[in-house]
Amino acid sequence: MSWIKEGELSLWERFCANIIKAGPMPKHIAFIMDGNRRYAKKCQVERQEGHSQGFNKLAETLRWCLNLGILEVTVYAFSIENFKRSKSEVDGLMDLARQKFSRLMEEQCFLNVCFAYTSRHEISNAVREMAWGVEQGLLDPSDISESLLDKCLYTNRSPHPDILIRTSGEVRLSDFLLWQTSHSCLVFQPVLWPEYTFWNLFEAILQFQMNHSVLQKARDMYAEERKRQQLERDQATVTEQLLQEGLQASGDAQLRRTRLHKLSARREERVQGFLQALELKRADWLARLGTASA
Ligand code: IPE
Ligand code: IPE
Ligand code: MG
Repeated sequence: MSWIKEGELSLWERFCANIIKAGPMPKHIAFIMDGNRRYAKKCQVERQEGHSQGFNKLAETLRWCLNLGILEVTVYAFSIENFKRSKSEVDGLMDLARQKFSRLMEEQCFLNVCFAYTSRHEISNAVREMAWGVEQGLLDPSDISESLLDKCLYTNRSPHPDILIRTSGEVRLSDFLLWQTSHSCLVFQPVLWPEYTFWNLFEAILQFQMNHSVLQKARDMYAEERKRQQLERDQATVTEQLLQEGLQASGDAQLRRTRLHKLSARREERVQGFLQALELKRADWLARLGTASA
């Protein structure tokens, strides 16, 4: 039987879901699923049982998201720091992840799992990838930009999360999606993850809706600013080129436009070539990893 699809929303939940759907809805939600061990302690069950119920809660949450039309979810399942926990806990979490995620993957395609992940590791890796691109002659140092770094992150195929939810009352990000959440609605909720309910999710979406126009404005301003900065850099490069050629930098507007157009077309070509090479490099790394662990 399907794990995510089993069980529908109650009549009352459906009614409220329809009301909330009349407002702006998030397309992508990220969760820091925290509080499993405190839950186990509170309910006087084994720690592993707390983690197991945490994984079950994920399936339930994905069903609510599906019902609300939220088609992308990213979860922080295990951080690099979590390897410092006891061997038995780490082994138990690995077993659960193997069982539960393979079951989730069979039926659901909109879940991104961050496992053995930290954001700073992801960002420094993206920087290393760009340095590799320059070293290989695929990129020019001037191609390096925030927008290129964004494309080198593991999340490059997803829009940035609209909401980041952390449960269990902790008010920190613990190195999760630091780059991607600069314009997300951050929601910290006191509930322990295994006790998360539809109404907690509902409340988080309401918070997002109440802040939607401010968030949207901040995103738009950021995008505009990035475009403006790139154009300014390109203008300066063209001026330099023209001066080097002994031409008047501000003289011929048509010539300047043609140069600007060429400059950005060539950059786009290099960036696309680099991103293709990067994808191949990553696929090759994954294939080698698969062979090594087989
Ligand atoms: C989150 O719950 C799950 C993982 C980090 C793997 P915790 O295990 O951190 O539980 P608490 O926060 O100690 O209660
Ligand atoms: C963050 O939870 C990581 C996950 C939920 C996987 P932790 O409980 O490990 O984080 P800290 O140590 O409290 O910051
Ligand atoms: Mg915790």
